[in-house]
Amino acid sequence: MQSFAITMTSLSIGFSGRTIIDGISMGVPKNSITMIIGPSGSGKTTLLRAVNRLNEEFAGCSTSGTMQISCSGTTLDVYNDLTFNELRRRVGMVFQSPNVFPFSIQKNLLAPLRVIHSMGRKERYQRMEQVLREVELWDEVYDRLNDNALTLSGGQQQRLCLARALALSPEILLLDEPTASLDVRSARKIEELLIKLKERYTILAVSHSIRQVKLIADRVVILSGGKVVRNLEHRDFQNPGLLEELVDEVF
Ligand SMILES: Nc1ncnc2c1ncn2[C@@H]1O[C@H](COP(=O)(O)OP(=O)(O)OP(=O)(O)O)[C@@H](O)[C@H]1O
Ligand SMILES: [Mg+2]
Repeated sequence: MQSFAITMTSLSIGFSGRTIIDGISMGVPKNSITMIIGPSGSGKTTLLRAVNRLNEEFAGCSTSGTMQISCSGTTLDVYNDLTFNELRRRVGMVFQSPNVFPFSIQKNLLAPLRVIHSMGRKERYQRMEQVLREVELWDEVYDRLNDNALTLSGGQQQRLCLARALALSPEILLLDEPTASLDVRSARKIEELLIKLKERYTILAVSHSIRQVKLIADRVVILSGGKVVRNLEHRDFQNPGLLEELVDEVF
């Protein structure tokens, strides 16, 4: 039987009484890439934010149903069994618009490692270099690590945010359009990286690119009006034209 890292059951989310996620039940298989596609406003970001309970930071948010994550062999109900800190250590997220902290590039990585993992200085610097190399940013920033992270380009900031999520060694990675602000070459690098990363992580990502979905997804979820209209396995969406046809119908 397939083992799921995330299991949602009858999950509904509303903001100020307006239903945005409408009774979704689905599983996200471990060590795989599941990609969500759907029209703007269909609830993709809201669905990602349900996994790490970020929606609850907004006033007027109501949630019903269950959300479980399975980490290190244990299944945990995210609403009842984990503190926010424990949940966010296990579940990393990279946002649609990069949210670097307005201090130095290195502090963006070193501070969370110190606070959350209580790592010593040498270990932190090693981990920083390792993740910056992993996201192909090291060569661009190694000689300006003390510059403010806001001086980086949009694509560099996006890679820094991915590096920051990886640095904390989560088990689940939520990626909201991870290549949206990258050029073709950088996007390809990140796509190659994600394929490697699924050996260690479970990835749930939003994408607007059918090319990208076909290239790297193991499973595709098509969302429309807060409902899952299709949940396709790899063999289904490799049929030439099928995904394009479904997207044409839904969008
Ligand atoms: N904090 C919030 N308060 C009120 N409404 C919200 C909130 N967050 C999202 N919504 C609403 O929920 C709906 C879905 O938003 P969401 O950001 O999940 O869409 P999306 O599919 O990610 O769209 P896009 O492709 O444009 O990023 C939208 O109508 C949006 O206005
Ligand atoms: Mg979105």
